[in-house]
Amino acid sequence: MTSYRTLDDLDPAGQRALVRVDFNVPMKDGRVSDASRIERAAVTIRELRDKGARVVLLSHFGRPKGKRVAEMSLKPVAASLEAILGHPVAFADDCIGPEAEATVAALANGEVALLENLRFHPGEEANDDAFSDALAKLGDLFVSDAFSAAHRAHASVEGLARRLPTAAGRLMETELTHLAQALERPERPLAAVVGGAKVSSKLALLDNLVQKVDVLIIGGGMANTFLYAQGYEIGKSLCEKEMAGTARQILETAEAAGCDVLLPSDVVAAEAFSVNAPHRTVATSEVPAESMILDVGLESLATLKARLADCRTCVWNGPLGAFEIAPFDHGTNVLAKEVADLTRAGKILSVAGGGDTVAALAHAGVVEDFSYVSAAGGAFLEWLEGKTLPGVRALRDAVVKA
Ligand code: 3PG
Ligand code: MG
Repeated sequence: MTSYRTLDDLDPAGQRALVRVDFNVPMKDGRVSDASRIERAAVTIRELRDKGARVVLLSHFGRPKGKRVAEMSLKPVAASLEAILGHPVAFADDCIGPEAEATVAALANGEVALLENLRFHPGEEANDDAFSDALAKLGDLFVSDAFSAAHRAHASVEGLARRLPTAAGRLMETELTHLAQALERPERPLAAVVGGAKVSSKLALLDNLVQKVDVLIIGGGMANTFLYAQGYEIGKSLCEKEMAGTARQILETAEAAGCDVLLPSDVVAAEAFSVNAPHRTVATSEVPAESMILDVGLESLATLKARLADCRTCVWNGPLGAFEIAPFDHGTNVLAKEVADLTRAGKILSVAGGGDTVAALAHAGVVEDFSYVSAAGGAFLEWLEGKTLPGVRALRDAVVKA
């Protein structure tokens, strides 16, 4: 038995299904500019419609801090969702109270309504009982489908699961299944690629990963801090010098746990942080004092490729270099393509997510080739930290209660 219920365990016909989705999508000039999260949520919405449910969608958008902010209305999302579903979507100007109740009451089986931004009410983020009660009044069932918001112990994520019969939606189920395959019961050897600017923002993550993975590949600005901690001269490179002790501790933990940490043996050193800045590849021990490290070098890439070729599972978070500015996207592109090739060849299971990662993989043109790319940013990072996300715990607790 799985530890949480899914849509297979619910009979939603004729029921009001409150579905927590994450429609916190990029918007430009009042229109949705990247509908990926809406498309992913549509799987659950379509299934519930087909089964005759009355689908009531709940989401946050932005951080309005408990007040009504016109620019953070979900109204434009309703239009985008209508286009994706090919079906009308009713919109209520508020997520609780008379207007929401009237909108929900008017739904026939198979119809869909989207309610206004949950975070216009302070009770959402406060996980307030009265607010959760007001939401729960609108539904007979709760479908939790926002993995990317599961790190928030908010009313629509956690409170509702304590009030209504609860199941994971298909997106939540897909995310949890792939993440478990990658880190909880992976085929080994298991590698993690972790990049990005700062060690300080990924401390807990690195600390957890070195205890779980066989190979940890560190790139991006944070690799500089590790190199500095080991006594290398890194010139003008981005570096958190005050984190050197912490970096050394992480390396010690890794050694004790039998995790092989790979730092670049050669790097691309440039004179400025700008497109096509003059640059050359040097050994990590020979970074000129006036230069900054912006990418990993070819020798490092060859080593990393060889190591990944032996691995069966790879978790990826963050870029290896300054991928936004050419030609310093080279290392990220090459290694991401390698993981994509290994995945296509059936040699590796690859799971990526968090923050800049999707942008970096999209830039490398490999998003479709990874086994799974998570829709989550912060939630993916907290999951890599080994935390139990409140939204996932709520799903498990709901089973115990049922
Ligand atoms: C996200 O976009 O990462 C999620 O929707 C969570 O948003 P939040 O960081 O504002 O809680
Ligand atoms: Mg976020």
